Parts: sequence; C-alpha cells; structure tokens
Amino acid sequence: MTAKAKLPPAPKDPKYRQALGLGIGIWDYMEKNQRELGDTFTLTLPGQGPMVWTSNQDMIKDILKLQEEQVDASLVQLPMDLGEHNTVFLNEKEHQDSRKIVIPAFNTTRLRARAPAMHDIVTEHINSWKVGQKLNVPRMIGDITLDVICYTLFNLRHGERKDRYQYLMGNWMLEATSDTMFTFGAIFGAKNFRQWLNKKYLARADKNQGGNGKKGILPWKRAVDLKVQLADMIREDIRDIRRRMDESETHLLSVIARAKDDKGNLLSEERVISETIGLLIGGHETSAATASWFAIWLQQRPDVNDKIRREVLESIQNEGKFDPVKVSELPYLTACLNESQRLTPSAVGFIRWLRQDTQLGSHLIPAGSSVLPCIYLTHRDPAIFGPDVLEYRPERWMEGKKYLPSEFLPFGGGRRACVGLNQARQQLRIAFAEFARRVEFTSEYQHSNKMPRSRMIGGQTEPEKGVWLTVKQIRPESYGMPDTVGAAETATA
Ligand code: HEM
Repeated sequence: MTAKAKLPPAPKDPKYRQALGLGIGIWDYMEKNQRELGDTFTLTLPGQGPMVWTSNQDMIKDILKLQEEQVDASLVQLPMDLGEHNTVFLNEKEHQDSRKIVIPAFNTTRLRARAPAMHDIVTEHINSWKVGQKLNVPRMIGDITLDVICYTLFNLRHGERKDRYQYLMGNWMLEATSDTMFTFGAIFGAKNFRQWLNKKYLARADKNQGGNGKKGILPWKRAVDLKVQLADMIREDIRDIRRRMDESETHLLSVIARAKDDKGNLLSEERVISETIGLLIGGHETSAATASWFAIWLQQRPDVNDKIRREVLESIQNEGKFDPVKVSELPYLTACLNESQRLTPSAVGFIRWLRQDTQLGSHLIPAGSSVLPCIYLTHRDPAIFGPDVLEYRPERWMEGKKYLPSEFLPFGGGRRACVGLNQARQQLRIAFAEFARRVEFTSEYQHSNKMPRSRMIGGQTEPEKGVWLTVKQIRPESYGMPDTVGAAETATA
C-alpha cells in the first residue's frame, strides 16, 4: 500500500489570524507555532494554498535537493511587476539559462574589480554626513545600495543620467513594494495582480506613454508610470550596448544585453529589462534590512564594533592602504555579519511550490502545497548552534566548525539560491568596515539589549520603525593610514 500525502499539523487560528501573524510579528508567530506544533507546521492564508514551514534538518536537506521539474516558481507570491520572464518566476531550462547569464557577472574577478568603486561610494556618503545628523539605517544603506547598483548595472557613477536612473529606481521600488500594492496582491492573488500590472505596463510601453509619474486616483498609476519610464531608459542603453558589442564591458546590463540563448539569438529587450529590474529589486530591500539588524547588534555591542575597527586598522597597516578587497575578506568582520544574519535574517524563509506529492524527510507533502525552510527557526536551533544559540557571539564562526548549507542559509539554497550573495556580502562588509573605522554613532540601542519588533517590508523583515543612528563623530579619510597623524592613534586603538 502506498502512503497518502498529508499536511503537517496546523494552528487552530483562522486564516486571517494566520495572515496577521505573518504580517506583524512573524518571528514571534514562528516561535509560537514551533512551540505548539513542533518543527514542521502548516499555515494557510486567505486565498492561498497550504504553506508548510519547517526547521527540520532532514526535510530542509531534501528541499535543497529538489529538482527544477519538481517545483513551479511562477506561483511565487510577489505582487510586483518584475516582468514574467524574470529569474524568480522562471522554471526548468528557462530558469537555469537565466542563472547562467547572470551568475558570471558576479564571479570573484569581477567582484574584486568592483570593490574600489564600492569603497568610493561608501566614502562619498560618509563625507556628506554632519555631526549631529540622524540617519535611518535602512534608508541610508538603501541609498548606498542604489549608488552601487547604478554602478554595477549601468556603469554610472555620477551625472544626469545616473541621477535620473536613481530617481526612477528608488521611486518605482517605493511604489511597487508599498503596503497598498501588497494589499491588492493579497486581495486579487499576487500572480494575477502582477500579471495585470505587467499588461498595463506593456500597453503603455508600446504606445510610449510614460505618464507624469505623479500619484493619481488609481493607486497603481504611479508604479506603472515609473516602470514605463525606467524601462525606456534601460531600452535605450540596451540598444547602445548592442551597437557597440564591446566584449570588454563588465557591467551587468552589458553582460545580459550581449548574452545569447542556446540558439545563438540575443534575448528580447523585454527579457533583458525584466532581468535588470529583478537584480535591482533583489539587492535593495534585502541589503537594507540586513544592514539594519547588523547596525543594532553593533550598537548593543560596542566591544564588537571596536574589535572590527582594530581589525580594519591592522589591515591598513599591513597593506599600506585601505584595500577594499582585503577588508571585505577580514575574518572577524565576516564573522560579525554572519552572526547578525544568523540571529536576525532578513528573509524568514524561502519558498518552493510542489508540482507533485513529494517525500521530504519523514513527510509526504501533497502536490499544490508550498514548502518553506524557516531560516529564522533553523538559525536558532540549539542542536546546530549549541546552548548559547541566542547569544550574539561572532567568535563561534572562528572556532573551526563548518555549518552545512541546510544549517546556515540566509541567502536560501539549492538551485534557486541568491545569485547576488557575494556582491551583497562584499558591499556590506566594506560599508561596515568604514563605519567602524571612521564614524561614531549613538542610538537608543547603545549598550542595551533592546530589540525592536520586526515588520515585513517588501517581503523582508525589518525593524518596525527603522533604526535611527545619530552621528557623534566623523574621523578623516586618512585615519589609521600609514605616515599620517591618524597612524599614531592606530597604535593605541
Ligand atoms: C543581504 C542581501 C541579500 C539577501 C539577504 C538575499 C536573500 C535572498 C534569498 C533568501 C533568496 C531566495 C533564495 C532561494 O529561494 O533559495 C534570494 C534570491 C535571489 N536574489 Fe538575493 N539576497 C540579497 C542580495 C541580493 C543581491 C545584491 C542581488 C543582485 C544584485 C540578489 C539577487 C537575487 C536573485 C536574482 C534571486 C533569485 C534567484 C533564483 O530564483 O534563481 N540578491 N536572495
């Protein structure tokens, strides 16, 4: 007799209460369900199929091994119009081909070549701050990330075109990820809503109707206007790149615009636009959310921040300069960011929709359900991280233990793991190394163990009201450099 597929236990809460639990206070809700139902449980939201959340290692290992043909990514519940030919929504061969196009743009050589520009961008931001200024970390990192994205996607650092891209990208993202758009997604179904938005966009793009980019009576008007205008700029750039066909160009838009499918044809312009916009959104709110939690830990633990500063100053002494590649590989800094992503990951889980009944660990999960490794609960499992699992202790990453891909997974895993993880890590490490070296911040979190409530913003878990830091001191760029006055301070730092 063959076993019958069956869903793991579910809470008694009605569907709307479950939706509320995920929307506000998702971490507490995950912990409550784990306490009451065990490491694997089923949640069901209004209008959606069952979602099976798990922190069970056997099950997560099997989820990471799922083959392309076992899952259907087109069901991803994102209400944003990224274009239906975006990596995130693609399946099987189309999905693999899409990753093959994008991944080389993030290889080590190309990333290292981008590190000095990332450092220049961080330096420009720090130099523009004033003592006493209040900065909200998600927005501050969001601005730095937009500068980095303008450079990595379009090879633009300054000038009118860069400013225009930045304006359109920043504002389109705000509109596309607003609570209103997510609410419409919840009411009409995320897939239906984004496909409907995409039709509106394509109709306007065809007629060259970018609109005025202002809010109108219809709540989605501004999002569609801004996307048409953004896509127009990207289209112009694609055409220029294809006229030049310069093999030496390494910025992402050029790499994607020149890529060919397996029949030797260039990708359609809409496909290139879709991939480009996906990379833009993939790296933005995720980095902002990750940085926000990291900033809180460093405020709570000035001893850790001081140790990062000492490590950076030592690297400067060894290399004779601030070498952004060397700095982004420093072991203690790396450990500190890992530890922050462990305890406060920006993504609570990642999702796979099952096409058929599938055996995962000891559960046979029915077709049509989605399964989500719960990153948050896995990272807080004492069986993996030991009895001090709830303590922020970066040293655990330097004690020689290697964690499995199923144990530490802030960037997801398997065939759909984040393509931008190395770029994200490099950018965050360079930024936080420079903050530790040059800037003293204060905030309500300093020397406390206060943790704000988490809230879902654009699919990411962020501190509910942002993280406000006040700039207390800014040291000069030369601080800690060999043969400068700062070098003397280094010795005693
Ligand atoms: C700290 C920053 C980031 C975090 C925490 C993060 C996290 C994630 C997670 C959890 C996933 C889902 C993986 C899965 O389903 O297994 C993902 C997918 C993805 N991320 Fe990131 N990400 C970050 C930065 C970036 C950056 C900088 C880019 C690009 C520039 C990017 C591009 C993507 C893309 C394209 C996917 C979809 C991959 C696919 O479906 O094959 N991400 N990311």
